[in-house]
Amino acid sequence: MKQDQFGEGRRMRNSGLSGPRPEPALLGDPRRFAPTRTATARVVIRPARPDDLEEATLLERRVWGRMAATLNELQRRLFALPESFLLAELQRPGRLRQLVGLSNGLLWSRDFPRSYVEYEKILPSASHNPRGDVLYLASLGVDPALRGRGLGLRLVQEMVEVGRRRHLKLVRLIANHRTRTLYARAGFEIVRPLPRLFRQQRDLMPRPALMELPLT
Ligand SMILES: CC(C)(COP(=O)(O)OP(=O)(O)OC[C@H]1O[C@@H](n2cnc3c(N)ncnc32)[C@H](O)[C@@H]1OP(=O)(O)O)[C@@H](O)C(=O)NCCC(=O)NCCS
Repeated sequence: MKQDQFGEGRRMRNSGLSGPRPEPALLGDPRRFAPTRTATARVVIRPARPDDLEEATLLERRVWGRMAATLNELQRRLFALPESFLLAELQRPGRLRQLVGLSNGLLWSRDFPRSYVEYEKILPSASHNPRGDVLYLASLGVDPALRGRGLGLRLVQEMVEVGRRRHLKLVRLIANHRTRTLYARAGFEIVRPLPRLFRQQRDLMPRPALMELPLT
């Protein structure tokens, strides 16, 4: 379990999502804020449990709107590869814990899919191949109120660690024009654009492209 802690003098003045945002740096670079005994707020990245899924589904809807995976689909992904279903949980003293980010992965063989247009017609969970040696990052999302503070990058980096621990060959994902920089920061490179994919969803997935990070 990974966590950032935020100490005295750097308290989140108001960390309610409906109120003013916490200072951007508080959720940003963990190295700038050494853990102290008076830590007040932290974001922990941890594997999901089945009883997280209802809240995770609500977060998924806030992130993806009409493209959101259903509770049933998230259950299938958790069942397929539990260690790659990661949650970012905001923890504050005296407040209920809150899910603010999620990512999940599946296993693919290296030659899957032959056509990404065909892939779009099936649910991601149906593409899971337990014998595959590619970690496919099926979804990444951060609560809109907490974006731009490094949580997305932390989730991606943790997913890459999952792939390394399983001795997989590579991590693969479909980026969009807005998220390429984030994935490039984690070491991914563009393999090719996928101009025929997500034609009806261009607002949420503009200019999709296949990206990969070799692990060996
Ligand atoms: C993509 C996403 C997970 C990034 O989460 P995050 O916590 O803001 O990510 P980080 O803070 O680690 O990195 C921010 C980077 O993400 C990218 N980004 C993409 N969309 C963004 C958004 N709406 N808000 C902020 N950053 C965004 C930018 O490159 C940004 O780089 P910058 O800091 O130099 O401007 C989040 O914006 C999100 O949930 N978007 C909607 C779902 C989505 O597009 N998922 C990925 C599909 S490929």
